[in-house]
Amino acid sequence: MQDESDQQKQWDKTYASANDFFGTDPSELAVSALPAFKDNKVRNILELGCGQGRDTWFFAKNGFEMTALDYSEAGICQMKEKAKGQGAKVSLKVHDARDPLPFPDDSFDAIYSHMFFTMEFTEEEVAKMLAECQRVLRPGGINIYSVRNDHDPHYGKFIAKGKDMWQNPMGFVVHFFTEEMIRRLAKGYELMWIKEFEDRSPPFVKKLYEVALRKPSEAL
Ligand SMILES: C[S@@+](CC[C@H](N)C(=O)[O-])C[C@H]1O[C@@H](n2cnc3c(N)ncnc32)[C@H](O)[C@@H]1O
Repeated sequence: MQDESDQQKQWDKTYASANDFFGTDPSELAVSALPAFKDNKVRNILELGCGQGRDTWFFAKNGFEMTALDYSEAGICQMKEKAKGQGAKVSLKVHDARDPLPFPDDSFDAIYSHMFFTMEFTEEEVAKMLAECQRVLRPGGINIYSVRNDHDPHYGKFIAKGKDMWQNPMGFVVHFFTEEMIRRLAKGYELMWIKEFEDRSPPFVKKLYEVALRKPSEAL
């Protein structure tokens, strides 16, 4: 089990003081991933780092069976309150994704995360989490994620925290990914696409890569 980090406390504090920190609309990534999930006949999705759930509710309302986790207890508690009476199929868990995922092999048709792998994780930690994602994805399942990139306005600004990582004035440590790093991290998956896009949710415009990976039907 991981110890509670400063970043975890920071997210808890942020969500406790703002009900919809990133707004209530689904993210650009969720809107873009929806047709890909439909085309791939996805029924159930595991979401990592769901925060306060703007994308979780969007997918649930579109008929997907959602399992969503975050290490922020404040975010998950708020989501549990919202879930009451909605009738949506959403299972919520407080879980640190650096620990093994509490699901059997081949459990999910898809994994989704927006601005999660771009948190204070080293490349090694991300590689480990992507391998764990691969374990719980069914063969042929897809993993769509987004990360802030090296064209983002905050790249290289504020307090240096490690390779391509800076802590912004709000206190969040962000890891900015290059395209080369994404290609390295795709090891063991089929890389379906890398696309650049902007996230316009508050409090400022961010530049990201959307990445889609497929777990091969047979080991690569
Ligand atoms: C930038 S926010 C994005 C939230 C949400 N995906 C959205 O776009 O509204 C990153 C989220 O990752 C969560 N997070 C960071 N590190 C985590 C970890 N090790 N395990 C689980 N969640 C984590 C944070 O609590 C936060 O909710």
